[in-house]
Amino acid sequence: MSLRVAVVGSGPAGIYTTEALMKQAPGTVEVDVLERLPTPYGLVRYGVAPDHTSIKSIAGYLRRVLELPGVRFLGGVELGRDVGVADLLDCYDAVVYCTGAMVDRRMGVPGEDLPGSVAATDFVNWYCGHPDVPADRFVLDSSEVAVVGVGNVAVDVVRVLAKSAEELRATDVPEEVLARLADSQVKAIHMIGRRGPEHAKFTLKELRELGELANADVCVRPDEAVADLTDASRQVRGNVEVLRGWAARPPAGRPRRLDIRFWMRPVEILGEDRVEALKLERTRLEEGRVVGTGEFEILPVGMVLRSVGYRSVPLPGVPFSESTMTVPNEAGRIRDREYVAGWLKRGPTGVIGTNKSDAAETVRTLLSDLAGRDPVRHAGLDALLASRGVSPVTYDHWLSIEAAETALARTLGRGERVKLLGLKAMLDACGR
Ligand SMILES: Cc1cc2nc3c(=O)[nH]c(=O)nc-3n(C[C@H](O)[C@H](O)[C@H](O)COP(=O)(O)OP(=O)(O)OC[C@H]3O[C@@H](n4cnc5c(N)ncnc54)[C@H](O)[C@@H]3O)c2cc1C
Ligand SMILES: NC(=O)c1ccc[n+]([C@@H]2O[C@H](COP(=O)([O-])OP(=O)(O)OC[C@H]3O[C@@H](n4cnc5c(N)ncnc54)[C@H](OP(=O)(O)O)[C@@H]3O)[C@@H](O)[C@H]2O)c1
Repeated sequence: MSLRVAVVGSGPAGIYTTEALMKQAPGTVEVDVLERLPTPYGLVRYGVAPDHTSIKSIAGYLRRVLELPGVRFLGGVELGRDVGVADLLDCYDAVVYCTGAMVDRRMGVPGEDLPGSVAATDFVNWYCGHPDVPADRFVLDSSEVAVVGVGNVAVDVVRVLAKSAEELRATDVPEEVLARLADSQVKAIHMIGRRGPEHAKFTLKELRELGELANADVCVRPDEAVADLTDASRQVRGNVEVLRGWAARPPAGRPRRLDIRFWMRPVEILGEDRVEALKLERTRLEEGRVVGTGEFEILPVGMVLRSVGYRSVPLPGVPFSESTMTVPNEAGRIRDREYVAGWLKRGPTGVIGTNKSDAAETVRTLLSDLAGRDPVRHAGLDALLASRGVSPVTYDHWLSIEAAETALARTLGRGERVKLLGLKAMLDACGR
């Protein structure tokens, strides 16, 4: 009899886990991939920037895993809402949690809750057309915007803010969001790093792309592009070289300006009823720690986007460490028959491919633990879901959603796909 495994979450970690199960135990495993959304692929669909089409094409690889015999996609099924841990342990021999890191981290400065102070998670979800965020969530009516953080997500966010709507037309950005981007009043974008250029988390390829923006000048202050490159990696040397090049380059008079700042930390978001400015303090390192110098600067921005990292949320009934914001595990094992992979296991770092080896480790642990055991399941998930009035979105339903998105792109004369916005539109498109 086959081993039956439930994988919860259909992002890269969930799908690479499924692939590793099928490869490491060929012909002896069946996998159900449970996903709260009607659509698979997690952050590949709702995180990777719309203009990064070559990275998004990884979905073509992931889909082949969902099409393998013995694999089922069950969309619209949320752990904690529709099923619990005990239900899954009744129905499957093992469960692998791959629910990622869905929420934002905070900066912990006064004014962070003012309207106009927002998380990059929200903004990314908005331009990616995530059903949790409505089209009217953002109005880009400020001429100056600050983006706090100098990681790759911040680079995505500033690039989307800097590009014209015309440049994004051929992407899958929902039509309603594109209309709002076309109305953007943003003229200046300030990207804020609390340490030096040698400490920035962005990668060279992503940084270089900012210098190719047709709609924005990139400005760096020569005194902030200075860096200690002792022991620096090639990547860091490359970043600093690019930044120094920009510091020496005069602006070309493009419609928008991107100011990349270093050694500045946010200390307060100012405003009465909404964000009116961001107060920054110059910083330096003291024994490796960022400390303020007492020199302040006020940026007259109407929106502050914090791009300071993601964090996982606890799953009901699953152990969770509040200090690491991950599920404690040993090579993927949480406890008997329960496993974890991806960002929920390691924290919110690493590119899509990092999740492949990570998932393979979890699967090795799982298969070695379960080797020679008799199957323990006795209930069927389909009957359980039906008894609760939950009718999953199948893989074929998802293909209908995809077909509707490609048809919409054709009708609008835009690229390969235009995302449908909102759960209702997606469910209507697949006849649900
Ligand atoms: C904005 C952004 C852009 C990125 N861009 C790139 C890039 O260009 N290139 C690159 O290599 N890497 C990129 N990354 C990193 C990459 O996306 C991650 O490494 C990867 O997505 C992590 O995979 P995961 O499966 O752990 O999480 P996720 O991709 O987040 O997948 C988790 C899945 O679980 C589902 N889920 C959550 N809770 C439940 C529940 N209770 N029940 C059922 N399902 C649930 C979610 O809906 C989601 O589909 C980016 C990350 C971010 C945040
Ligand atoms: N194209 C791609 O390949 C791509 C695209 C997007 C994301 N990703 C990956 O996804 C992962 C997550 O990316 P991310 O950008 O969210 O996270 P990240 O790489 O960890 O960057 C977070 C940034 O926020 C800063 N920060 C944290 N707390 C802060 C605070 N309180 N005040 C000011 N700044 C603060 C950090 O500075 P300190 O260093 O000083 O803490 C850092 O610059 C990364 O592994 C990334 O490479 C990849």
